Amino acid sequence: MKLLTAIAGLIVAAEGAAIGNAMDVQNVLQSVLSIAQSRPLKSSKPPNVLFVITDDQDLQLDSLSYTPHILKHMRDKGTFFSNHFVTTALCCPSRVSLWTGRQAHNTNVTDVSPPYGGYPKFVDRGFNDNFLPVWLQEAGYDTYYTGKLFNAHTVGNYDSPYVNGFNGSDFLLDPFTYSYLNSTYQRNQDPPVSYEGQHTMDVITEKALGFLDDALEGDRPFFVTVAPIAPHSNVNPPTLDGPNQLVMGAPIPLPRHRHLFPDVKVPRTDHFNPDEPSGVSWIRDLPQQNQSIVDYGDSYYRSRLQALQGVDELVDSLVTRLEESGQLDNTYIIYTSDNGFHIGQHRLPPGKTCGFEEDIRVPLFIRGPGVPEGYVQNSVTTHIDLAPTIFQLAGIPHRDDFDGTAIPLTPDYAGPRHEHVTVEFWGKAVFEGDFSQIGMDGSIFIPNNTYKSVRLLGEGYNLYYSVWCNNEHELYDLSTDPYQLHNLYPSGSVLGENEPHLLGRTLSQAISRLDALLLVLKSCQGFTCIEPWKVLQPQNSIYTLRDALDEKYDLFYQAQPQVSFDWCDAGYVIEAEGPQAPLTTRHGLPWDAWV
Ligand SMILES: *[C@@H]1O[C@H](CO)[C@@H](O)[C@H](O)[C@H]1NC(C)=O
Ligand SMILES: *[C@@H]1O[C@H](CO)[C@@H](O)[C@H](O)[C@H]1NC(C)=O
Ligand SMILES: *[C@@H]1O[C@H](CO)[C@@H](O)[C@H](O)[C@H]1NC(C)=O
Ligand SMILES: *[C@@H]1O[C@H](CO)[C@@H](O)[C@H](O)[C@H]1NC(C)=O
Ligand SMILES: *[C@@H]1O[C@H](CO)[C@@H](O)[C@H](O)[C@H]1NC(C)=O
Repeated sequence: MKLLTAIAGLIVAAEGAAIGNAMDVQNVLQSVLSIAQSRPLKSSKPPNVLFVITDDQDLQLDSLSYTPHILKHMRDKGTFFSNHFVTTALCCPSRVSLWTGRQAHNTNVTDVSPPYGGYPKFVDRGFNDNFLPVWLQEAGYDTYYTGKLFNAHTVGNYDSPYVNGFNGSDFLLDPFTYSYLNSTYQRNQDPPVSYEGQHTMDVITEKALGFLDDALEGDRPFFVTVAPIAPHSNVNPPTLDGPNQLVMGAPIPLPRHRHLFPDVKVPRTDHFNPDEPSGVSWIRDLPQQNQSIVDYGDSYYRSRLQALQGVDELVDSLVTRLEESGQLDNTYIIYTSDNGFHIGQHRLPPGKTCGFEEDIRVPLFIRGPGVPEGYVQNSVTTHIDLAPTIFQLAGIPHRDDFDGTAIPLTPDYAGPRHEHVTVEFWGKAVFEGDFSQIGMDGSIFIPNNTYKSVRLLGEGYNLYYSVWCNNEHELYDLSTDPYQLHNLYPSGSVLGENEPHLLGRTLSQAISRLDALLLVLKSCQGFTCIEPWKVLQPQNSIYTLRDALDEKYDLFYQAQPQVSFDWCDAGYVIEAEGPQAPLTTRHGLPWDAWV
């Protein structure tokens, strides 16, 4: 309809042009073109998908501002998802969640290496026969992948078994995955090949363009993933005579980028190396960083921005190749990262594994047929929503075991939405870079970094609520405390009359709702992960925290068992994880009488 109106306008303008107003014609022509471009293409062939996933790229530290090609091709020509989160801020668990559409508590791939994670755990759990590329192939797609798939996918186990689901693959393998200058890749069913002396970004760019060409030649729609390691830390494989502890150093940029951004520093926000410590246990105990450590953080940050230039050029090459092929109009391009990153915030050395904004927020851009250009979508979206989104683009029916739901690609999207993100972590925090050996006994690992959180963004609220395995709690109101410096969770004594309020209710009432929500989310599956309030109050129309805060539900929420842990474990051991099921109004009396 809009298109017809615009065409009618074009005819009128064209008539006007006869008496000399050529500008009008051009304007109307442009609006016809942009409307035409923003309409989903009715093509007989399902759309192609090009997926680019970086490693450890932050959103919050402003890395995107330094990638002009990505901004030009993805932000200006596509939609930016400003509230996009990962569900576990660590590479392997996050990637397995992404490629299966499930929370880590439903994959039980919760770490980077066995017994709790890594490629062997992914295989043991049966996902090698049951993840996105396999499903896409079954639906008629040709699938290609190059770069890092999972951690603990090694020169020793790459063939036992081979990764399923790809028509063409060329994977980075451990222990050389993060060696920028000595990577090892393994193609299809060939033996691994060392690229000693070449830069990994040059290697992957050539492989990615090769697969894109293969994909473009095929008759079927394609799904091509390119997963460079930048801007992850550089890790040289341990040598027999070297230090026996793994040390992750600054990423190594391509030589042509090493001079860039000489004066750039980590943004000096309120939570950068703060004078006052805050947060729970081990984070509160971190020493303030001295000038050498701050300087190192700045130089590490610059290395990341420089290393990202290789990704920026890669994206430019891929989009240019698609443009030249004439298939850009039937291709969705998705750009994201596996988890975020912090440097110096809350006094933390470089790393991820925390639940702070820096770690859980990542860039997400999508462009393609029907996706508005230059648009910012503020809905809450997560990595477990991406497989459902690709299913929807490909016209494949939603799977019941998806814990996420397709994300809104157009402003008028009316499908089910959620205001929460379930954030989970098990095991150890990891510090990267020089000065990182500050854990117990000079280790880069901090044990007992096990927690469950809910991040909630609704109308009039912006919250993070977290329960740790030692039963410490955190509650941040990000609308007044965007840097998560003031834990509102009451410590010790019961709150008195001066209790702060949220949405017109006391903090205690709000906490009773948040805790019940987290109790559902920490063991949710499928639909209950998407509409958790329905588990609690199936008879009432509760969709949001605001709905649940109604006074008439106070007794119901106060009676709920609370999220807690019996001990800190390094993996998802249910016995350690306290109450599993909430009370629900479905249990009948007495709740029916009350609500
Ligand atoms: C890709 O693999 C699928 C599944 O094995 C197969 O049906 C399809 O023909 C392959 N495509 C090409 C181009 O070989
Ligand atoms: C590069 O990796 C290969 C194995 O793939 C190894 O043999 C070689 O020693 C490494 N080179 C350096 C400089 O570390
Ligand atoms: C800062 O702390 C590190 C680690 O403890 C130490 O090696 C370094 O010498 C200190 N630098 C300054 C300027 O105090
Ligand atoms: C980690 O948790 C375990 C089990 O809850 C406990 O025994 C241990 O002392 C904790 N370690 C640290 C460093 O807090
Ligand atoms: C997750 O995997 C670990 C390691 O194999 C195992 O101990 C644990 O019981 C598993 N959790 C669940 C819920 O199956």
